[in-house]
Amino acid sequence: MAWKVGAAIAGLLGLAGVAAELGGGADPRRAGWRETYRPPAEIPFPSDNPYSAAKAELGRRLFFDPILSGDGSRACATCHIPDLGWGDGRARAATRMQGDMDLRTPTLLNIAWQDGPMGWDGKFRSLESVAAMPMTSPANMNLPMADALAKLSADRSYAAAFATAFDDPAITRERLEAALATFERLIVTGTTPFDRWIAGDETAIAEPAKRGFDLFNGRADCASCHSGWSFTDNSFHDIGVGSGADIGRGRFKPTSVALRYAFKTPTLREAGRRGPYMHDGSVATLEAVIDLYDRGGIDRPSRSRSIKPLHLSAAERADLLAFLGTLSTGTGRDVTTASFTAAAPAP
Ligand code: HEC
Ligand code: HEC
Repeated sequence: MAWKVGAAIAGLLGLAGVAAELGGGADPRRAGWRETYRPPAEIPFPSDNPYSAAKAELGRRLFFDPILSGDGSRACATCHIPDLGWGDGRARAATRMQGDMDLRTPTLLNIAWQDGPMGWDGKFRSLESVAAMPMTSPANMNLPMADALAKLSADRSYAAAFATAFDDPAITRERLEAALATFERLIVTGTTPFDRWIAGDETAIAEPAKRGFDLFNGRADCASCHSGWSFTDNSFHDIGVGSGADIGRGRFKPTSVALRYAFKTPTLREAGRRGPYMHDGSVATLEAVIDLYDRGGIDRPSRSRSIKPLHLSAAERADLLAFLGTLSTGTGRDVTTASFTAAAPAP
C-alpha cells in the first residue's frame, strides 16, 4: 500500500489515542509501549540533499537500470528486489562470478530514518556514499565511476533528466549519488496490521500477537534494540552470531572487544519475507531466530549485555512469532506515492 506522508499519517494519528487496555491478561505497560510505535509524520531528508520530485524520479530510473553495470547485466534492483522486501532472499549476495559475497543483502526499507553509518558493520558514512561501492566493485556491478558518468552523459534522455533535476547539465558523481539516495529515502513501509492496531483498531491483530508484543517489549527485551516505529536503534551489537574471521564492525581494525561481531540492528518490518536472516544469512527462519535469542547466542566478551538465555515456553515463542507476523503488509513493494510532500530536514 502506498504511504502518503503528511495527510494520511496525520489522519491515522487523529484516530483514537491508544486506549488503556488492561483486560485479558495484557501487561499493564502495554498502552505506554504502544505510544512508542507511532509513525513519524514525515520522511526526513538531509539539508544537503533535499527532496525534489525530479531527483527522486531520476534516482528511481537509475536504481532499476543496468546501465550502471559494466556489462549491462546488473542494477541496484538485482539485489535490492522490491518483492523480496528490498533484499534478495539469499544468505549472502551473489558475485558476478556466481560466488558468494561475505554479507547478506540488507533491506532498504525505511532507510531514510537510518541517520547513522550504513552497512552491516557501519563502513559507509551516509546513504549518499553507499552507491559507489557496489557500482564500482569488480565482483559486483563492475563499472568504474568515470565510465558511469561517461555512459550517462552520452545518453540524451539521462542528460536531460540530470539537467532537470539539478538545474544544470553536468553529470557528476555527487549528483548520481544524490539522485539514488533521494529515491531510496522513498522506500517506506506500508501500513501493516500492527500499524492499524497502534492507531487504535483493537481488532487489527489477534490476541497471541498482542501477547507477543508484550513479550517483545517486556521480558524478552527485544525492543531495547529493535525500538520505535522502524524497529531499530540504528546501532550495532553482538547478539551472539557470526564467528571466526567474520568479526564485524571494526573487522579491519577492531578498536575494542565491544565492537567485535557488532552488526547493525535491522528493521523487523516485512521480516517474514526477508529470510534467511542476519548479516551472513546464517539463520534460516524466524522460528530459528527466536530459538537463537532463547538460547542467547554465543556467549563471549563482546556479546551485548541485553542478550541472555530467555527460557521462553513454546506458547511464548509462538506468541512472539505471531507478533512478528503483524509487521508485514503482504505486498513488500513499498514506495511512497509521488504525491509525497517534502519534509523539512531534521534539526
Ligand atoms: C550483489 C548485490 C548488490 C547490488 C547489485 C547492490 N547491493 Fe546494495 N548491498 C548489498 C550488500 C551485500 C550490502 C551490505 C554491504 C555491507 O554491509 O558492507 C548492501 C548494502 C547497501 C546499502 C546499505 C543498507 C543498510 O541498511 O545499511 C545501501 C543503501 C545499498 N546497498 C544501496 C545500493 C545501491 C544504490 C545499489 C546500486 C548502485 C546497490 N546497493 C547494489 C548488495 C547489493
Ligand atoms: C542487543 C540488541 C538486540 C536485542 C536485544 C535483540 N536484537 Fe534482534 N537483532 C539485533 C542485531 C544487531 C541483529 C543483526 C545481527 C547480525 O546480523 O549478525 C538482529 C537481528 C534480528 C533479526 C533478523 C533480521 C534480519 O533482517 O536479518 C530478527 C528477526 C530479530 N533480530 C528479532 C529479535 C527478537 C524477536 C528479539 C527479542 C527476542 C531481538 N531481536 C532482540 C539486535 C538485537
